[in-house]
Amino acid sequence: MKVIVIGNGGREHTLAYKLLQSSRVTQVFCIPGNAGTATLERCQNVPLAVDHFEGIARVAIEQQIDLVVVGPELPLSLGITDYLQEQNIRVFGPNKVAAQLEASKSWAKSLMYEASIPAAHSGTFSDIESAKTYLQKQGTPIVIKADGLASGKGVIVAHTEAEAQQAVDELFAGGFTKLLIEDYLEGEEVSILALTDGLTIRPLLPAQDHKRVGDGDTGKNTGGMGAYAPSPLVTPELMERIQQEVLEPTLQTLKNRGIDYRGIIYVGLMITPSGEPKVLEYNCRFGDPETQAILPLLETSLIELILACLEQRLGEFPPIAWKNESSVCVVVASGGYPDSYEKGKVIKGIKEAESEDVIVFHAGTICKDDHILTDGGRVLGVTAVSESFETAIEKAYQAVNLIQFEGMYYRHDIGNRLLGKT
Ligand SMILES: Nc1ncnc2c1ncn2[C@@H]1O[C@H](COP(=O)(O)OP(=O)(O)O)[C@@H](O)[C@H]1O
Ligand SMILES: [Mg+2]
Repeated sequence: MKVIVIGNGGREHTLAYKLLQSSRVTQVFCIPGNAGTATLERCQNVPLAVDHFEGIARVAIEQQIDLVVVGPELPLSLGITDYLQEQNIRVFGPNKVAAQLEASKSWAKSLMYEASIPAAHSGTFSDIESAKTYLQKQGTPIVIKADGLASGKGVIVAHTEAEAQQAVDELFAGGFTKLLIEDYLEGEEVSILALTDGLTIRPLLPAQDHKRVGDGDTGKNTGGMGAYAPSPLVTPELMERIQQEVLEPTLQTLKNRGIDYRGIIYVGLMITPSGEPKVLEYNCRFGDPETQAILPLLETSLIELILACLEQRLGEFPPIAWKNESSVCVVVASGGYPDSYEKGKVIKGIKEAESEDVIVFHAGTICKDDHILTDGGRVLGVTAVSESFETAIEKAYQAVNLIQFEGMYYRHDIGNRLLGKT
């Protein structure tokens, strides 16, 4: 089989790497890919934007592609699945209507209400005045969310009324026409990525990420500075509860809305101090960097799982097999990220860092004149798999220490909350 993977992040390098582990996959084309996918055996990049649907369809037809796997939310929310399906090209990922699960937080919230899914109470507002009146009534802490794709920059957790008011002003001024104002939830966050064929929904291993840029979970929010799996917070009992209270009703309500969802449903959950799982948001695709931590543990063939979803055989599919090990991904970023940063720095030591237990997934990298250069905020995801989290963390950092580029930045405490050190 020949497969196209859409995207250029660490998630897409991981998907390409994992797909190629199956002998059924003969070739992967990554659109546009990065230096990691360019140098992966039987994988090549095609320099097209992720929203250039016409170009992507042309490559799929010319190369006689069997399947397109979509990484990022942008092309999904723009309807890449609908576009390619119209041309009889097989796609793993939800269509435009279903992608609203991520692209519109108010659409997702109404689904949660309809399905009685545990989540924070919220209101939706289309003008500044009514948003501010509601804020005054609710007090702080409170969470303001833009109703649209915002690359992780559309949510403000406000601790004072001034911050909350400012968030409302800024989001409306920034062009959003609708906001959600949501009750603040305490607890610890987990990410549940589930596969669905539209009839059955089955979770992958639970993961947790570190969203803040600084050690000790401080500073600005980022796309994610590291992740680990399986999260010990999600016991088998809690996973069963998530299945019954969140995953099943989500799928059922999508069905009720006439949506045939074949892809990934990613649920961002807050596990409250009393142990209750509450939904913060949905994403309509694999998480980044959670995928870099989860997929190296997957023993079942990824392509077989994806085909089972597309052919609606997930219900009969054998249990998903996992390595009984722990995985930790440390993200290596460009200094300055998530604000401005420089690109084009030569990266050294990637080969030396890789070993039997360590994989270096590329994110913002590019090949130029036999060098690998930085080309984005998040540059690499260094993933170690080992028998315990202690040794996985140690191996990941030993590998990170072998990598060098000017301005290289990473957090030193990925996974430490597992060891009770925070
Ligand atoms: N109701 C809430 N209570 C507390 N924190 C929240 C709440 N909603 C979101 N957050 C915080 O804000 C982050 C981003 O919110 P999320 O809904 O996941 O939006 P996005 O990923 O699109 O930016 C979450 O990961 C969480 O840390
Ligand atoms: Mg989120």
